[in-house]
Amino acid sequence: MLAELLHFALTPASMAARRDGSVADSVALWARGNRQRRAWAAHETHARAVAEAAIGELRQTRTAVVLGSGLLRDVPIELLRARFKRVVLVDLVHLASVRLRALLGRWGNVEFMVRDIAGGEEGRDEGGDSGASPLAFLRSIPDLDLVISANVLSQIGVAARARAEEIAGADLDGPLADVARRLRRHLDALAGLGARAVLITDIAYRVRDRAGGEIEHYDLMHGVALPPADARWEWPVAPFGEIRRDIERVHDVVAHGDFGRAWSAGVGSPPDADRG
Ligand SMILES: C[S@@+](CC[C@H](N)C(=O)[O-])C[C@H]1O[C@@H](n2cnc3c(N)ncnc32)[C@H](O)[C@@H]1O
Repeated sequence: MLAELLHFALTPASMAARRDGSVADSVALWARGNRQRRAWAAHETHARAVAEAAIGELRQTRTAVVLGSGLLRDVPIELLRARFKRVVLVDLVHLASVRLRALLGRWGNVEFMVRDIAGGEEGRDEGGDSGASPLAFLRSIPDLDLVISANVLSQIGVAARARAEEIAGADLDGPLADVARRLRRHLDALAGLGARAVLITDIAYRVRDRAGGEIEHYDLMHGVALPPADARWEWPVAPFGEIRRDIERVHDVVAHGDFGRAWSAGVGSPPDADRG
């Protein structure tokens, strides 16, 4: 508890990020990751392996960007540091411990960028979004050779859905279409970068009881179909005892080592008039 409080206090963040829960969420993720170190290990190894394989295929390794870099648990940071001239870590919050690790390790080619990659509130319709791509900033990063979307896509959907529920109450149809639009917008932008794009994301979760009975199944993609993945696995985000003694929550994760190629092959969600 003391470590969590210290983390909260020492993490550089705006008042807005402290108030809206972003810092608290990151600290909670850090604490859960520590508690569930063993349960999460396979997920983290699988995720890093997909990114490592993609890095191994690149002809140029000038600048790499990691979206949702967070605690760098599922990100091959050592390989990125060693291979790339410049590594940009993008997240709502970069915890004090991650910054300290970079400082003590003298990560001279690694930069922290605080950024909301879901898009800000400005210019939105009620429950809608401004339409501008929140990943447009990537176009102004010179010599971009690799972007890793590191387990952040579903978080964009979760936050958008929570906001939609707040605004719309029971009449969710329009706002839910907007959640899907935001997810597709991330995918479109990632695929259209002209740089290698690696996508790692959880697409659904299941809540199960100890008898294996499914209590809940939740589609984190809100109906947006992805192309066939290069790898897929289960991530026991909340094993028995984490949320409650008698239930577990397991996420289905997929990974694409070359998302641009897969998405443009058109096997995923078809283009539609709704695209933002
Ligand atoms: C499940 S964690 C990813 C874990 C991370 N890749 C790691 O290796 O530790 C999701 C991360 O996405 C970040 N995130 C969520 N929504 C975001 C947004 N709108 N913009 C930027 N980062 C966001 C969270 O702060 C968190 O660090």
